[in-house]
Amino acid sequence: MQASDARDGAGPDDGAAIRETMNIVIVGHVDHGKSTLVGRLLADTGTLPKGKLESVKATCDRTGKVFEYAFLLDALEAEQDQGITIDAARVFFRTDRRDYIIIDAPGHIEFLKNMVTGAARAEAAILLIDAAEGVQENSRRHGYLLAMLGIRQVVVVVNKMDLVGYSRDAFVDIAQEYRRFLAEIDVTPQHIIPVSARAGELITGASAQMPWYDGPAVLEAIDAFEKQPARHDLPLRVPVQDVYKWGHRGDDRRIVAGRVESGRVRVGDEVLFSPSGKRSRIASIEGFNLPAPPQEVVAGRSTGVTLTEQLYVERGEIMSHVDHPPSVGSGLRVKLFWLGRKPMTRGRSYKLKLATAETAVSIAAIHRVLDASELGSSTGKDRVERHDVADLELHARKPVALDLAHEIEGTSRFVIVDGFDIAGGGIVSEVFDGPALGQAARDASALRRARLGHPATLVLIAGDPEAPELRDLGRALERRLLDGGHHAYAALGLSHGAARALLDAGLVIITIDDADAPALHAAAEELRDAALARVVVDGEPGPEDISIQTGAGAPPVEQLLVALAERGRLRS
Ligand code: GTP
Ligand code: MG
Repeated sequence: MQASDARDGAGPDDGAAIRETMNIVIVGHVDHGKSTLVGRLLADTGTLPKGKLESVKATCDRTGKVFEYAFLLDALEAEQDQGITIDAARVFFRTDRRDYIIIDAPGHIEFLKNMVTGAARAEAAILLIDAAEGVQENSRRHGYLLAMLGIRQVVVVVNKMDLVGYSRDAFVDIAQEYRRFLAEIDVTPQHIIPVSARAGELITGASAQMPWYDGPAVLEAIDAFEKQPARHDLPLRVPVQDVYKWGHRGDDRRIVAGRVESGRVRVGDEVLFSPSGKRSRIASIEGFNLPAPPQEVVAGRSTGVTLTEQLYVERGEIMSHVDHPPSVGSGLRVKLFWLGRKPMTRGRSYKLKLATAETAVSIAAIHRVLDASELGSSTGKDRVERHDVADLELHARKPVALDLAHEIEGTSRFVIVDGFDIAGGGIVSEVFDGPALGQAARDASALRRARLGHPATLVLIAGDPEAPELRDLGRALERRLLDGGHHAYAALGLSHGAARALLDAGLVIITIDDADAPALHAAAEELRDAALARVVVDGEPGPEDISIQTGAGAPPVEQLLVALAERGRLRS
């Protein structure tokens, strides 16, 4: 078989039964032996072209280099045109069971980006650890990344066992330590295998050097990975792309268009749209350019359907069957990696895109950040920097329909857009109706803020608390904010303690004070999510102040609302 068959993803068709292809990613710290292991797998599975191994060895002899299995990959890459089994990041090989594409992930960031945007996909992973160096922060990072990507089939390979004298104790120590760590992040490795990739121990068969090990060799372990179910066997998901009105006059039917991500749908099926919760039945499936309209459409196809009821559904909803709906919520616990040049911070709004849905999100709580520079996990960070991996809670401005952590490819992944760029991406591990309370390590004031939908703000109108026009302005603002769904409270004579408590409770407080009110400034400054907005009416504003002119233009309360909105202090 030519490797290019597998590359097409169509499956080889050389008269034999159709063979399965599986994508596996191999990750590990630099120099821990990924390429050597892959070279070994190529050589020992007979995937290499005839004479290749010998010729690479001969070249090494001639040039006085010590032969490395990794050279096989370079040699193959240099000969792309000869039915070759490798390109820059992917290596193809086959076993009796099936064909494999191994993704050697040199830079995990690029790989992650590709995984999350859907450009690359892996169904299983090999995680490599150097026996002599043991578990490194990077080994943890990689484990965490795999968990984040929802790759649950993992085999851990402890390589370079020759360097520790094939010692059982050395292996057990590493295996135990790593298994404990993986358990913390909900990853259960199917096997932990001691090997020497260089010496070929436990790659394709039993090892005389490690008689104490009675598990499978690497090849058996990966042949035991299970294929993900075919997409048309999964629950129905059709993210709504668009809703078209039928062109004819008097015909108010609408066509709901979208791509069937998974499952299958038939005429007559009862369907549910999420998050709206609207239900109807499929009246017809439109067959564009087909002689007769189809009765069924399956995963992978774009389609348009009409419904028996005239529902108003929107782009971004997901059509499913009634008995297997997606999850819906606006509180999203996510695992996310960040690529943005600017860090992801609290108090800023980002665009989340999931399938065809788009909504504004902000950080409601930061549970854990895996730091890119220190490669350590930190719970105290209050921002997510470039290349960090984070466990966050996001608040979405409107409920989103989705599937949890890779249950279904196209509806379980999201990307975050900051400005015009994809700045991050990840998967959703939990969904709440609203940001739920009561979980450990929640940042309560951030949650309140998320639930209220606006930040805590102290609106300090500068001037005499007895002045009727200022009191009117304060009252008018309170009223307008309440009408707009804000938790607003107008009060005079606030102490530092009272202001602090009200701000911590997430309110917009409106007060009037003619002094500089340092106690109030301090109250706002002490709380991370709160801010003070000082308002000067017909006076001389400082650079930070909101300036209101009563003589001209919009009424003062309107001017004030605009200024607060501009500062991001209002619900939007
Ligand atoms: P990068 O691609 O740079 O991240 O490295 P890698 O993980 O692909 O490692 P590679 O396979 O290039 O191996 C790095 C070095 O480790 C080479 O010198 C290998 O010969 C050596 N090595 C790999 N496997 C073994 C092993 O089982 N035992 C010993 N002693 N050395 C090994
Ligand atoms: Mg390598």
